[in-house]
Amino acid sequence: MSSVVVAVDGPAGTGKSSVSRGLARALQARYLDTGAMYRIVTLAMLRAGIDPADQAEVAAAVADVRLSVGYDPDEDRSYLDGEDVSAEIRGDEVTTAVSAVSSVPAVRTRLVELQRTMAHGPGGVVVEGRDIGTVVLPHADVKIFLTASAETRARRRNDQNVAGGLPDDYAGVLADVRRRDHLDSTRAVSPLRAAADAVVVDTSDMTESEVIAHLLDLVHQRSEAVR
Ligand code: DC
Repeated sequence: MSSVVVAVDGPAGTGKSSVSRGLARALQARYLDTGAMYRIVTLAMLRAGIDPADQAEVAAAVADVRLSVGYDPDEDRSYLDGEDVSAEIRGDEVTTAVSAVSSVPAVRTRLVELQRTMAHGPGGVVVEGRDIGTVVLPHADVKIFLTASAETRARRRNDQNVAGGLPDDYAGVLADVRRRDHLDSTRAVSPLRAAADAVVVDTSDMTESEVIAHLLDLVHQRSEAVR
């Protein structure tokens, strides 16, 4: 088992989550989903009746949130106050509010600290998020930044929506993807961008297993280089 530390960043719709889990499995490494942590804090705010857009209230409440997440790439394990909230944090209410909550500096400070502590466990780890290579783990052994064209990401999301019973609305989804790209890359706190030493991988024309195989190659090349 290797003790390599891999950072995987990029926007939604690049296959980041499945690919990061697959990579962790192949490396027999732990997997850390930092987006789940932002989602748990968001759920805590909603349950406490706090307006996600009220930055001062969110900042004041974040220290009291008792959250934990598991390391298993095969099982979502997200807890709030000891309760398993793995399904609830993927719901619409949390998904709508999470951008506002994750833009509050006090939230980021608390979660970045927790992420650093958790990444430093035994063995290797694949840490997935938006700011892992740039902020959370600037000394990660391997940094990967996944991209895909806005059209590809919109098509993947629209397909998922349709499979989940939502209306087919490619044009609407594409407009939303472009709007969120703009917000994510221009926000003041931890904007989404590739670290200078990240390997940028465009997944537009690759299958999930092709991406995982490519990342495994990168990790192996890199681990040999640092030895
Ligand atoms: O990856 P995801 O969709 O579960 O992430 C949920 C939200 O959290 C998303 O709006 C981006 C934010 N996030 C972040 O700001 N920084 C991270 N390291 C991970 C997620």
